[in-house]
Amino acid sequence: MRCDHTPIWTALQTHAQGFGDFDLREAFKFDVQRASRLSQSAPYLFADLSKNHTDEATEALLLTLAEQTGLAEHRDAMFRGEPINNTEGRGVMHWLLRQPAGSLQGKLTAPLAQVHETLNAMLAYAEQVRADDAITDVVNIGIGGSDLGPQMAVLALQDFVLPGKRFHFVSNVDGHELAAVLKNLKAQNTLFLIASKTFTTIETMTNARSALAWFNAQGGQDVARHFAALTTNVEAAAQFGISTTFGFWDWVGGRYSMWSAIGLPVAIAIGAQGFKDLLAGAHDMDQHFQSAPLDSNLPVRLGLLDVWYRNFLGYTSRSIAPYHSALRRVPAYLQQLEMESNGKRVDRNGQALPYGTSPVLWGEPGTNGQHAYFQMLHQGTDVVPLEFIAVKKPTHALADHHELLLANVIAQAQALMLGKSDEGGHKHFTGNRPSTFVLLDELTPASLGALIALQEHRVFVSGAVWGINSFDQWGVELGKVLAKDIHARILSGDVSGLDASSAELLRRIR
Ligand code: F6P
Repeated sequence: MRCDHTPIWTALQTHAQGFGDFDLREAFKFDVQRASRLSQSAPYLFADLSKNHTDEATEALLLTLAEQTGLAEHRDAMFRGEPINNTEGRGVMHWLLRQPAGSLQGKLTAPLAQVHETLNAMLAYAEQVRADDAITDVVNIGIGGSDLGPQMAVLALQDFVLPGKRFHFVSNVDGHELAAVLKNLKAQNTLFLIASKTFTTIETMTNARSALAWFNAQGGQDVARHFAALTTNVEAAAQFGISTTFGFWDWVGGRYSMWSAIGLPVAIAIGAQGFKDLLAGAHDMDQHFQSAPLDSNLPVRLGLLDVWYRNFLGYTSRSIAPYHSALRRVPAYLQQLEMESNGKRVDRNGQALPYGTSPVLWGEPGTNGQHAYFQMLHQGTDVVPLEFIAVKKPTHALADHHELLLANVIAQAQALMLGKSDEGGHKHFTGNRPSTFVLLDELTPASLGALIALQEHRVFVSGAVWGINSFDQWGVELGKVLAKDIHARILSGDVSGLDASSAELLRRIR
């Protein structure tokens, strides 16, 4: 049943009205168990939800909402491989990419065997590239899900990256990006990975063509050795002239594809075992999501909290603050994950929704954000729930830096909650500002896998409750079509039939 038609939806609205004077400081006073009740462990991490605008009663109502909207059934349908991506008639099985070999029966046996066949080929290739000292530079050409995941993971796992290899990510059709990378490369030392699920994306195809032209102009020999394609469209890659290909399947959404062949740059960077550890960490989180009771199921609790904030307390954005500089691309990664998945205005049946869906997601690493936009989080007119991600153990020897970093992240969460009322006016902090605190013991391939799978599943949860299809992205199509038309007009100068503003802009850039 769609969430707004459930009996509990109205009960939540009423509950939210009485929540106007909820105060975190009071909540902690009234409930000495609050910190432990609203926090929990999940594979590879600990999450403290207690500094959020929620309480036991709210969680109970939200769990009823999950029941009445059939969340668990929807989750189970995903894990059975049913075509829950209904607008494209596809299954949603990125989780299968991290499923151990031979662990499933029935109709998923064959796809799982294919997953492991491709994984083994890809990991063998990754090891071959790692052992090839002539290849010093790996250039991933891809955009969106074919860029953000591998880029984020290679950065996050920089301590595990093989010395002597450099990784570059070219996504934008803006030639400045490709030109800046190529200028420092030698054809004989470079491996280009052309990453595109569809192998039709204009940005990626344009960059790939220019990279191939550069390679040939530099006297590059042996395209089969210096270009590989990561795609579901092996035919198009062959037509392009690339014979080294690693495939995946239409049931892997672009923004969920870093576990597939799209993860090849990560596998080259951290090695076959590292990549397997990444998959294993994500799989542990899959199992938690599948089997933990809903009231202690972390993706479920986070996803329901997202719904509570968006639909009942009116918070329209969420900020992400990773307190680890290697996690600096995590906000960009999560932006696509959340906003491309849940930025939908119709339900699964195409009916317009009378309630809000995806929040705006944004953020920067701490402590940098503290000296930029945290002012607004502390004293602005809007309440923005903040999600801190911290890592207990550093991999460097600068202990004093890490102590300061961790002191800051705890202090920020505390300051947002406690506020400061002994001075008025400009120096007054209202406090009572919500935050979630996610703590990893250490940043490893496995813990990163778990962290990302957690985020995937929490997006699934809110999307399922909202009754939307989180696995299509029709909203990106219109701009692509119009860009083709405008491109032709830039070449011809024809502005006929254009709106006056676009026509004038076109005249000015010609
Ligand atoms: O335009 C959006 C999108 O389709 C994303 O969903 C996807 O991750 C990205 O483009 C790249 O697509 P592809 O991997 O097919 O090049």
